[in-house]
Amino acid sequence: MSSASRRKVLLMGKSGSGKTSMRSVIFSNYTAKDTRRLGATIDVEQSAVRLLGSLVLNLWDCGGQDAFLDNYLSSQRDTVFSNVAVLIYVFDITSAEWEKDLHYFEDNVTALRENSPEAGVWVLINKMDLVDKDDPKRIKYTEYCEQVRALNARISADEPSAGALRCFPTSIWDESLYKAWSSVIHTLIPNIELITAHLDFLRDLLGAAECVLFEAETFLAMGKSGSPIDCEPSELEEIEVDRGVPGLDRQRFEKISEIVKSFRKTCQRTGEVFTGFETAFDGLSVVLEPMSKNTYILVVSVDPRVHAGLIKYNIAEAHLHFA
Ligand code: GTP
Repeated sequence: MSSASRRKVLLMGKSGSGKTSMRSVIFSNYTAKDTRRLGATIDVEQSAVRLLGSLVLNLWDCGGQDAFLDNYLSSQRDTVFSNVAVLIYVFDITSAEWEKDLHYFEDNVTALRENSPEAGVWVLINKMDLVDKDDPKRIKYTEYCEQVRALNARISADEPSAGALRCFPTSIWDESLYKAWSSVIHTLIPNIELITAHLDFLRDLLGAAECVLFEAETFLAMGKSGSPIDCEPSELEEIEVDRGVPGLDRQRFEKISEIVKSFRKTCQRTGEVFTGFETAFDGLSVVLEPMSKNTYILVVSVDPRVHAGLIKYNIAEAHLHFA
């Protein structure tokens, strides 16, 4: 990427749904426990986050108390909703006021489509850790997503260029948060197709099953060889069978993001520097290495003839393509 690319990301949803917590866990190295200390956001808190060197996210964390929400929809409407690349709308699955929450969502998406018709909408249904498997609220997740999709489709009906809507279940207490945010960031990287082509080339050169690129600070998965980061499960199945590694954990990328981030924190506490890892199990060789100043690469090889040393040599040789 040559010049900086700035993208405005709106973070909205009712007060207490978990917007600032997510932002703090992903971008400020908070643990889930640390977020209990956060106070309510007053009005809009803006921050700029630089990723991959030259992608700048302008994050607008919009405090969710009723008075602020009303302001965004009236006096601040044009300022808040113009030039938006992505709206991340956070719902609290435990909310007792789903109808009211949905009504606010509708108002916000209407304002978004008026001012930024092409913006993508990511709906994160948060605090999933608070509802267990048999809880009717968890069962309702699918129903909630359908309602949100139907509303968006109705509001966007006259706007052929309207951006996509995606729904993710999230919790700041597990890796689901990384999956959702990786999916958002993946779509904002200007040259993601070129990066994916390089990853495909490297994977094929190594006869590897997978090459995945992580952003060095957040450890969000930015791109991977083969299927895009946020592809449908059915598509994933096809690719895994094709590469000869069926049965890999579906949540493996976001789990790696979460594990590496917390391990790195431990390293910081003990004065160690995390530089990567390599491991082998069940016939797989796995290497995680720095790829550039701003990225790490994960290579999963299924060929027993390809040793970790060869993978590392090729990663070193490929540096220039990812710089
Ligand atoms: P406003 O700033 O008022 O708009 O609220 P907010 O949406 O930014 O909520 P905030 O991030 O301040 O979170 C409110 C509380 O919810 C905090 O105590 C968090 O620890 C908690 N919380 C956030 N996400 C989760 C989650 O996924 N699970 C659980 N159990 N608690 C969460």
